[in-house]
Amino acid sequence: MNLLVTGGAGFIGSNFILYWMRTHPEDSVINFDKLTYAGNLENLKEIENLPNYVFIHGDICDTNAVIKALADVDTVVHFAAESHVDRSILESSPFIQTNIVGTHVLLEASLKAGVKRFHHVSTDEVFGSLDIHDSKKFTEATPYDPRSPYSASKASSDHLVRAYYHTYGLPMTITNCSNNYGPYQFPEKLIPLAITNSIEGKKVPVYGDGFNIRDWLYVEDHCRAIDLVLQKGKIGETYCIGGTDQDFNNLTIVKKILSFLGKDESFIEFVKDRPGHDRRYAINWDKIHKELGWKPLHDVDTWLMKTIEWYKNNQQWWRHIKSGEYQTYYKEQYGRNGGKT
Ligand code: NAD
Ligand code: DAU
Repeated sequence: MNLLVTGGAGFIGSNFILYWMRTHPEDSVINFDKLTYAGNLENLKEIENLPNYVFIHGDICDTNAVIKALADVDTVVHFAAESHVDRSILESSPFIQTNIVGTHVLLEASLKAGVKRFHHVSTDEVFGSLDIHDSKKFTEATPYDPRSPYSASKASSDHLVRAYYHTYGLPMTITNCSNNYGPYQFPEKLIPLAITNSIEGKKVPVYGDGFNIRDWLYVEDHCRAIDLVLQKGKIGETYCIGGTDQDFNNLTIVKKILSFLGKDESFIEFVKDRPGHDRRYAINWDKIHKELGWKPLHDVDTWLMKTIEWYKNNQQWWRHIKSGEYQTYYKEQYGRNGGKT
């Protein structure tokens, strides 16, 4: 396969490229990335000199650059996005531009280039919020109900991808995945923020009462799922991807991290809640299990600890990030007093 991976310098995109070069060494990969604050080529150091890997510094909103990059590509795997809910609340325009307009540019160009597959990487957040006392889970049939500028922009992109399939016959697949964790996640998201703050001896900000629930999935399980959908998925179909059955609220996750790093609960700081904070996400992944044989292989207890170890052993990677633009964002998001309630 000749793949064009958009957003391949981000968290999941770079894990996907590393996974792909390892498991499909005969394929060629072009990584097309704008290198926003979230894109980091250091993630790809171990494969950057391979003859079948190329990096293109480009914006998916730039039609000419996208058309040029697509020459000889048969498969597009589309990760590029503005991905952080809190940033979308502070300033939504980049989310509309990249997630909606950028996806549209990519769809048009992919259709004209005649790609054999357009795979769109999406999120469970498009389905809205579940009640914490309810045992319901999201499925492929759950109606869309996005509630943040980020999730609304991702929902729009999903609709556009489906429209290009139904109207123009673009051979597409979509995956809607739950919260990922693992190496190379930008330290503004809960798990890497909690780990790195704890190592630095800083408090960990927990929004609201801390009882919001996320469905955590180790990033390599997400990469394996996308691989299976590319190899065996049915054109025009959507597959939901999620973690193991247990529900963990944010407080439980933060307590696990603190305890592993030998810190007590005085390091938890309850801060002002996120506006419109979705209460619970949970994915029913029966479809991809029954049709393609996928299931998550990494349990949270073991792989959260391995992730913490990774951040302990790769401090240069995140300290470099935290000393830059991230500081400006951190002050705006949490305020001088940490945004305490
Ligand atoms: P990320 O923010 O870590 O990485 C995004 C990447 O996209 C960065 O490398 C950035 O430079 C690049 N990018 C942004 N705008 C671009 C543009 N206009 N043109 C080209 N490149 C651009 O994001 P992530 O967490 O790796 O998420 C990747 C994808 O997976 C996103 O589409 C996200 O919606 C989806 N997703 C994420 C999660 C999660 O838990 N992180 C879960 C489900 C789905
Ligand atoms: O569900 C998939 C989504 O998961 C992806 O589509 C998004 O790209 C990804 O960013 C992630 O979104 P969340 O908003 O769930 O992730 P985040 O790490 O920002 O927050 C996880 C939970 O932790 C959420 O309930 C908010 C809470 N939180 C987050 C931060 C940053 C805190 O309590 N304190 C914090 O400082």
